[in-house]
Amino acid sequence: YQLVSNIFYYIEMSVFFLNLLFEKETIMENELKIKHACNYMKMVHKDDHTGHDIAHVERVHTLAKYIALNEGLVHTTIIELAALLHDTVDSKITNEQQAYDKLSTFLETIDLTQDDIQHVLHIIQNMSYRGGKNNQATLSIEGQIVRDADRLDALGAIGIARTFQFAGYFGEPMWTESNVPFESLHTDNIEAFDPSAIKHFYEKLLKLKSLMHTSTGRKLAEERHHFMLQFLKQFLHEWNFNNNTNM
Ligand code: ADP
Ligand code: NI
Repeated sequence: YQLVSNIFYYIEMSVFFLNLLFEKETIMENELKIKHACNYMKMVHKDDHTGHDIAHVERVHTLAKYIALNEGLVHTTIIELAALLHDTVDSKITNEQQAYDKLSTFLETIDLTQDDIQHVLHIIQNMSYRGGKNNQATLSIEGQIVRDADRLDALGAIGIARTFQFAGYFGEPMWTESNVPFESLHTDNIEAFDPSAIKHFYEKLLKLKSLMHTSTGRKLAEERHHFMLQFLKQFLHEWNFNNNTNM
């Protein structure tokens, strides 16, 4: 009996250590994949000043990891890869089809399964806003987290800064109208206005809060949304200064 129990003990221990060894190896491997993706991303984004710069992608990566942790997800490799690569195919900065081909080739080189490659590509293909239409596309929980992270970086102080940077780069004015008070501007009466940075808030940014997927994302969006409203109120207050007898 003692002998049998000893044998079982040794088998159990061996399995435990083999598991540990295997586990450690997969962790190392995944970290390496993420590092390669990071290098690929930096290569693509190195000259970008349209709001898709390396710092944006790094913030989205950090936000996505934070949301995943907070939502109780343990395996974050797909999330991290999709976050790091999500803007390498944006049609605003590059030829979309060519960029997808390059990205697929890259993904093939970092030893992912075909399922994982398709998963990452599907997330990247379906996460963008596209006038809100794309929100119906069904995303896995991993995709929802990356989408939330990307949207959070379009909100708050950073979101404000990116919007003006984008408008400047594409030759849009900050705002064009006078005598339009903060209270009268809404997401549903903005169509009539000429393109401007302020218009973009009503067209898109103020709608993002209610499109968040995860509760962690919603909580972060709430705070950033509130800050944007404060900013818009003050901006329009200053913009209309001469025309407002109350000031
Ligand atoms: P992402 O793909 O990272 O969500 P977008 O390509 O939609 O970003 O836009 C990059 C940044 O520029 C975002 O902060 C976005 O809000 C801003 N932006 C996009 N379109 C406009 C626009 N027409 N006017 C001003 N800012 C814009
Ligand atoms: Ni992005």
